Amino acid sequence: MFITRVWILLLCYPLVFFPTNAASTELLSDLMLFLKVPVKLALFVCWDEDKSFKFLRKMLQASQVHFVQLKSVAVENIAILDTPEPHQHLAVIDISCPGSDKFLAEAQYRIYNKIRWVLWNENGYEKKTNGGDEQEDVIFRSVAGLPVTGLSEVYYFSVERGETVIKDVYRRSVMMNLNSSVVGVWRNGIIEDKRWTQSVVMRRRNLQMLPIKTSLVYTTNYTLSHFGDFENNEVDSIPRTAYLLLDTLFTYYLNATMEKRFVTTWGYPDHTTGVWNGMSGDLIYRHSEAAGSMMLITQNRLLKIDYLKMPIPLRIKFIFKAPNLSETSNIFQMPFDFSVWMCTLALVAITATVFAVVHGVLMLRRKNSIRNRYLEMLNAAYDIIPVATQQGSLLEPKSSAQKIMIFVSLAGLMFIEVSFSAKIISLIQAPSERINSLRDLVESRLELGTDGQPYNRFYFSKATDPVGIKLYKRITNQNADTLNAYDTEQGVRKLQTVTNPELFAYHGFTSTLYQQISRTFNDVEKCYLRELTFFDSGIGYFSVQQNFTLREHFHIGLMKMLEAGVATRLVRRMLNEKPGCTKGVMFRPLDLVDTRFAMEIAAFGILGAVCLLLAEIVLSKYTLWKTPVQNYTE
Ligand SMILES: *[C@@H]1O[C@H](CO)[C@@H](O)[C@H](O)[C@H]1NC(C)=O
Ligand SMILES: *[C@@H]1O[C@H](CO)[C@@H](O)[C@H](O)[C@H]1NC(C)=O
Ligand SMILES: *[C@@H]1O[C@H](CO)[C@@H](O)[C@H](O)[C@H]1NC(C)=O
Ligand SMILES: *[C@@H]1O[C@H](CO)[C@@H](O)[C@H](O)[C@H]1NC(C)=O
Repeated sequence: MFITRVWILLLCYPLVFFPTNAASTELLSDLMLFLKVPVKLALFVCWDEDKSFKFLRKMLQASQVHFVQLKSVAVENIAILDTPEPHQHLAVIDISCPGSDKFLAEAQYRIYNKIRWVLWNENGYEKKTNGGDEQEDVIFRSVAGLPVTGLSEVYYFSVERGETVIKDVYRRSVMMNLNSSVVGVWRNGIIEDKRWTQSVVMRRRNLQMLPIKTSLVYTTNYTLSHFGDFENNEVDSIPRTAYLLLDTLFTYYLNATMEKRFVTTWGYPDHTTGVWNGMSGDLIYRHSEAAGSMMLITQNRLLKIDYLKMPIPLRIKFIFKAPNLSETSNIFQMPFDFSVWMCTLALVAITATVFAVVHGVLMLRRKNSIRNRYLEMLNAAYDIIPVATQQGSLLEPKSSAQKIMIFVSLAGLMFIEVSFSAKIISLIQAPSERINSLRDLVESRLELGTDGQPYNRFYFSKATDPVGIKLYKRITNQNADTLNAYDTEQGVRKLQTVTNPELFAYHGFTSTLYQQISRTFNDVEKCYLRELTFFDSGIGYFSVQQNFTLREHFHIGLMKMLEAGVATRLVRRMLNEKPGCTKGVMFRPLDLVDTRFAMEIAAFGILGAVCLLLAEIVLSKYTLWKTPVQNYTE
């Protein structure tokens, strides 16, 4: 399965000649098996052609054949390691070659970023006369200024008490002393594993109080003295949750100390200069190593900061109280859809017909003129109108048939009316569902406000879609070009009190708002709360400086905290969810607004009646005026 090709690109630098050690190729070959992953061997050596050739031939004869690249030591060759799969590389460098120190210095982040290294010392290894300690000195000198820290895997061989020992060299941070530890002992072609676990991070997990520079965000002075507690958790809840999480990570997992830096924003680039501020700026300009708060992932940050995988809800939303349903829709009309209308009309028509027919049958007994009979039947049919409107019957029921008929229609229509009234009552209590999207919000008359944090301006001003642009216009104060900002208490009070005609929508951290809301809103009001999201994802992530050597330590530690439920517990304790509510425990009284449509109908009715009256008066005057004229002419 291994790639069986050999590339010899450059062979030069004829230097001191050493006899090829048959064992050295086997040792390398065995190490590659031992490490399991690497399949590409890159040799940076300065051997002469003959020796290199022999070495390669040996390598190809080994039980496992690998993809081998042989390079002369030259600084520009470091680029050969920049492949899409650096984790497959085992880079072997002969530190006795001239220029190897420069080469290693050029390697920079490649030392600890996925690539595994073997420091080969052709001179030291071949001579064998020196003690192990001197060998270590040579190795330590060669990596003296290098970031052999974090995840770095830098191996070397030494001979101790006649045995070949594989060791790795490591330091906790760039400023610390170098340490070495035994990885394995090579005996008879087998490497005995001396590590207690294969995971590098687990082996180096205890950072022994290593200070890690961390930027913490705060937006009010209160937070500065309350990072570690749960008091008033609505104040800066996101940065404080983040701090509690990181503190747990540092204390219980990494055994590191947090070197705090305080900043007031999450950090955004300046519109004109492009200089970043806040926490992102700290990470980008390497003032700090880790971010002390969760951040949303944005494209421009992604290029300059490394995000870690642990997701934490970071909900920033518009919250508003929905208007009463009666204000946005005609609630009297809502229970009636087309079929209900049709059935009601049909019922009225049928009942009217039955009234007329029964009346007609009764009249057969009396001797009436046909014309009279029809008129009376029409009158009887007309009686359905007072019955249908539940005003009683004008008809005086003479027979039991009529009595039964009137009773049945009154009772039946009463049930329809009762259910209609019940429906209306529930609709009067209901919030409007009209505002369902940002577009609806922009088009509504709701006043928009924010919590005044810089992210509002930053993200809203970046919007390119028409709705976003309108939103930005609505949340900024046109004259002063500042955000409509309210602090939490003011904002929530504005949410609660309705200053007709417009309501208020507040953009901010939902956790903070809900804490305040659950204190001040009553249970019925909470049912009216609606949320709308402007940011696509409500998930924040921790992040670290780009190419931070301890990134994997953080990563695994955070994942362990997620797995063990530590993160979930802290998030539950610190971040507030939308409060529950009870529907309709308190009947709200009717307003004029609620009966607007009923009033309109009544008003139209009265107006119509007055108009008819006027028309009748005019008509009678007209006939009166006409008739006498005829009389006189007669
Ligand atoms: C953390 O590091 C300190 C300093 O090296 C050490 O004394 C302590 O035992 C370590 N704590 C744990 C839990 O390993
Ligand atoms: C926070 O404290 C600093 C110094 O004590 C002060 O200058 C600043 O005005 C305070 N900020 C607020 C918002 O109170
Ligand atoms: C709904 O109506 C009630 C009572 O008329 C009023 O107190 C309340 O403020 C109204 N709610 C909204 C959101 O307009
Ligand atoms: C970080 O690592 C990437 C490769 O993973 C490299 O391209 C980049 O230049 C490095 N950045 C710094 C600042 O070292």
